[in-house]
Amino acid sequence: MQTVHALNPLRQTVDALREQAGAGTRLALVPTMGALHEGHLTLVRRAKELAGLVAVSIFVNPRQFGPNEDLDAYPRQMERDSRLLEAEGVDLLWAPDVGAMYPQGYATNISVSGVSAGLCGADRPGHFDGVATVVCKLFNQVRPDIALFGEKDWQQLAVIRRMARDLDLALPHADAILGVPIVREADGLAMSSRNAYLSPEQRQAAGRLNVAMREAIARLGHDATAAVLADLRSAILAAGFDSVDYTELRDADSIELLDAPNGHARLFVAARIGGTRLIDNMAA
Ligand code: PAF
Repeated sequence: MQTVHALNPLRQTVDALREQAGAGTRLALVPTMGALHEGHLTLVRRAKELAGLVAVSIFVNPRQFGPNEDLDAYPRQMERDSRLLEAEGVDLLWAPDVGAMYPQGYATNISVSGVSAGLCGADRPGHFDGVATVVCKLFNQVRPDIALFGEKDWQQLAVIRRMARDLDLALPHADAILGVPIVREADGLAMSSRNAYLSPEQRQAAGRLNVAMREAIARLGHDATAAVLADLRSAILAAGFDSVDYTELRDADSIELLDAPNGHARLFVAARIGGTRLIDNMAA
């Protein structure tokens, strides 16, 4: 695996890898912020099934963290991550520092309206601008044929697809942006780098989130949606969470609010336990 930290060598390395691999070989990009877990490695394995060359980026993107969020505390484990990616047979690790990504004088922001509103967009102002901006830059830097993202961040995936369509991004165009289903722990907790923040008691309570969501989904379509979502909020608090940011039913693509399942709906939840904010979503 070749590890690159600056833009010029990145372009040369990508060109050389493509030349070695031969015409027609696809390059897949898996963008990450590091602190890799089984969810990320699942993305990498899927990327290897779909493409002859796999690049992974690791960049903790300051522009997607709010002023009171966990940018400084966010786990950084470059050596460990690098070993894991090497063992998976990744071809290229793109690991720029902040100065390489946003050099002195950097002034451009990408803001995707509509799908960015509501859910995490409401609770984390500016978050999806930061995501859209860095992902657009990553696409332009690595120039992959396909890119893979975890469905745990479902709204993020919708924002990135909208951005790629709206900006006519050729590489990769919106259809080449692939969502990979959430990888869950044995008790159903969605894997996340932020799970590492949880104490043993918090971790136990966190495992009840997905159970409460499944119970709510079983009731949707039979009971009034507003009542189901209110009961879900109470169940999450009773499970040991400190607060609930949202329990909402939305259309899977447009992310518009729904007052009943429409055959294409998802249940979205964000809740806080200790200082940790966890999100999850499921087809409903
Ligand atoms: O999902 C993430 O890890 C990040 O939001 C991403 C897509 C790598 C952009 O920084």
